[in-house]
Amino acid sequence: MKKKILVTGGAGFIGGNFVQFMVNKYPEYEIFNLDLLTYAGDLTKHKDIELESNYHFIKADISDRKRITDLFEQEKFDYVVHFAAESHVDRSIINPEIFVITNILGTQVLLDAAKANNITKFVHVSTDEVYGELDFDPTTFFTENTPLQPNSPYSASKASSDFMVRAYYETFKLPVNITRCSNNYGPFHFPEKLIPLTISRVLNNQKVPIYGNGKNIRDWLHVLDHCAAIDLVLHKGVVGEVYNVGGHNERTNLEVVKTIINTLGKSEDLIEFVEDRLGHDKRYAIDPTKLENLGWKPTYTFETGIAQTIQWYLDNQEWWQQIISGEYQEYFEMQYSKKF
Ligand code: NAD
Ligand code: TYD
Repeated sequence: MKKKILVTGGAGFIGGNFVQFMVNKYPEYEIFNLDLLTYAGDLTKHKDIELESNYHFIKADISDRKRITDLFEQEKFDYVVHFAAESHVDRSIINPEIFVITNILGTQVLLDAAKANNITKFVHVSTDEVYGELDFDPTTFFTENTPLQPNSPYSASKASSDFMVRAYYETFKLPVNITRCSNNYGPFHFPEKLIPLTISRVLNNQKVPIYGNGKNIRDWLHVLDHCAAIDLVLHKGVVGEVYNVGGHNERTNLEVVKTIINTLGKSEDLIEFVEDRLGHDKRYAIDPTKLENLGWKPTYTFETGIAQTIQWYLDNQEWWQQIISGEYQEYFEMQYSKKF
């Protein structure tokens, strides 16, 4: 019988790329994409794989205990790769509660279902943001031993879910891995996050909001390098271990925005410095040595990855134009009306 892999959040950005990666790479697995289709989820991205016999979609809420329990009993999944989450820091500042429900409670519901059905491996996809922030000393990095010190409601909810996953390993011997990746970018990135927000606004000749002085640093990784890392951890990760994922691509936000504007041949006058994000983390930077020792290395540099991504947004305007003309406008108004 084919092995069954449940991917939660597979209609979102990273989960969506991962579902496509797995459906194409492993015809011998059955891939189940479970997603609630919140504002961040969309299935149009899967039009190339939706008719594949090894792809299935299930609309469900990970925090719906009865639904999830019944589903696991019925399908007997072998593996779980858990992406589903509320993922945007700015939204967590506006409304933290849904982050607690989805990211903490939803994860715990999945852990219970996985435990009751003796799954082979549960990979919990987390973030480097659980470590808090680094200062600007370029020789310091997050390792797997860095203490968790989350600063935003988003990162606090992810850190809480990480602790719950750890507890199910320590207490119940559930076979888990946790991955903590740096900021991703690439195709199908929802245009509320810095890189797709900048590309879409520059293409529409609109101002690009930079929080504070633009000197905050993020460590950028192409989403397909993240997918390959999760694939490796799923198959080769030592049970109970945490793996950091990152490719040493640190850039200030201002550098990122200028790169996009210059690549698109537009004027840097489009940049507008606006009021800073509350609790804005200064710098994230990953030490990926442990994952490299498992056999992973990234295939994109920031230069090749950002060029590919900008081209993808040029070639797929229908996808993001349709998003920014919907509910997104209300969000943009709420988030930025007092900033510009
Ligand atoms: P995303 O917001 O693009 O997608 C999240 C998906 O989860 C959406 O399809 C949404 O519909 C679904 N979802 C939300 N609530 C749900 C619920 N209650 N039940 C079922 N599905 C639900 O997020 P993303 O950027 O793809 O991030 C995916 C995961 O990776 C998250 O766990 C995030 O913390 C983690 N992560 C993200 C980054 C990044 O740079 N974006 C970096 C490291 C880790
Ligand atoms: P974001 O893409 O929201 O990811 P995260 O907060 O998870 O790192 O933001 C990346 C960086 O860009 C972060 O330092 C905040 C900054 N930023 C802006 O300057 N302006 C914006 O409009 C957004 C959305 C983010």
